[in-house]
Amino acid sequence: MRPPEGDGYSSALRTVDLKITDVAFGGKGVARENGKAVFIPFTIERELVSAKITREKKQFAEAEVVDLRQRSRYRVDPPCPYFGRCGGCAYQHIDYAHQLEIKTRQVRDVLKRIGKLDDVPMRPIIPSPLPYAYRNRVTVHAANGVIGYFQRDSNRLIDVEHCSIAMEEVNRELADLRSHDVPDGHYTLRARSGPRVFSQTNDGVANALRDLIVQLMPSNQELLVDAFCGAGFFAKALIGKFQRIVGIDWDRFAIAAAKEDATEKETYIAGNVEDELVGAVHRTARGRLGSIAPTLNPDKTALLVDPPAVGLSARLRKTIVDLAPATLIYVSCNPATLARDLAELRSRFKIESVTPLDMFPQTAEIEVVAQLQRSNASTN
Ligand SMILES: C[S@@+](CC[C@H](N)C(=O)[O-])C[C@H]1O[C@@H](n2cnc3c(N)ncnc32)[C@H](O)[C@@H]1O
Repeated sequence: MRPPEGDGYSSALRTVDLKITDVAFGGKGVARENGKAVFIPFTIERELVSAKITREKKQFAEAEVVDLRQRSRYRVDPPCPYFGRCGGCAYQHIDYAHQLEIKTRQVRDVLKRIGKLDDVPMRPIIPSPLPYAYRNRVTVHAANGVIGYFQRDSNRLIDVEHCSIAMEEVNRELADLRSHDVPDGHYTLRARSGPRVFSQTNDGVANALRDLIVQLMPSNQELLVDAFCGAGFFAKALIGKFQRIVGIDWDRFAIAAAKEDATEKETYIAGNVEDELVGAVHRTARGRLGSIAPTLNPDKTALLVDPPAVGLSARLRKTIVDLAPATLIYVSCNPATLARDLAELRSRFKIESVTPLDMFPQTAEIEVVAQLQRSNASTN
């Protein structure tokens, strides 16, 4: 069906010669046609391509390569037979060291473009010890006898026998699932058993992330508030630096797991981070943090936040500014929402460092840790 006139779409599909100038956050190569950005998956900066425009809007267009006319020296052969069709990986065609350079650049660019944050002190990206076979869990989908992942930009499934970014134990689980006649649905396959709560996906990078946070956190503090604590992965590594730790997560199974081996220094609250922090700042009856830490001294308090991809809500950002803990560490799985949040938090905090981590090699995802210290200046 032809879209209505004047909505910015054009149905004319053309083939154009383009030069890729960048790889944007999200994984697609970027070129310009008469000034308009054209996004082309599976390309690398400086490559020359002939590409078919598949979608055209007022502000940008999308295209697919029909002929790679000049290839990048960073181009490698993707090892996975599903690469290009499968919606999971975006970068198997790029040499791993160059993937790290691209991700570093993307973090810097997103902080600048969305957060208007120039000259952020960036630390070198932390690579994954394993560029493949690193995922300790995957979720596959089963429908009408097909078991696999969704195709790129589609809700159709492709049948997947082996996932090259999953650990061998996970692939054994996949082979086992595929050998049975299973009902349609979603199946999370794990390398090892454990509570069904959030856990970091790449063990090697998760350990590096935890070590980095321990290193960035000052010693001899009174209170750590670990917001979005899950099962206490970070809190438990930080016990030695605090007199008291309060973890908050609304997943009661995660909180139960955190409590299992908790020392008397640790308290875990099953609740909404917003409500708990608002209650503590305004000393209202709402939430339990206020009663657990009635003498919350911001000068001796550190706040660690590790929110989901949506980042911090406007209310939570304001509450953190009001609370003004001496140290704030922000773990983000989405540089775009991190940039938005840092733009607001810098009214009260100075950004000491930003460290990208490659938790998800071959994919477009990037994990980032921002280290902030309270400041009195209005911006930094
Ligand atoms: C990215 S995970 C981080 C988990 C933990 N830091 C770790 O490394 O294992 C985000 C966590 O936030 C929790 N969560 C999301 N929104 C929340 C909210 N508004 N209040 C409390 N917990 C929330 C989820 O249950 C999940 O455990």
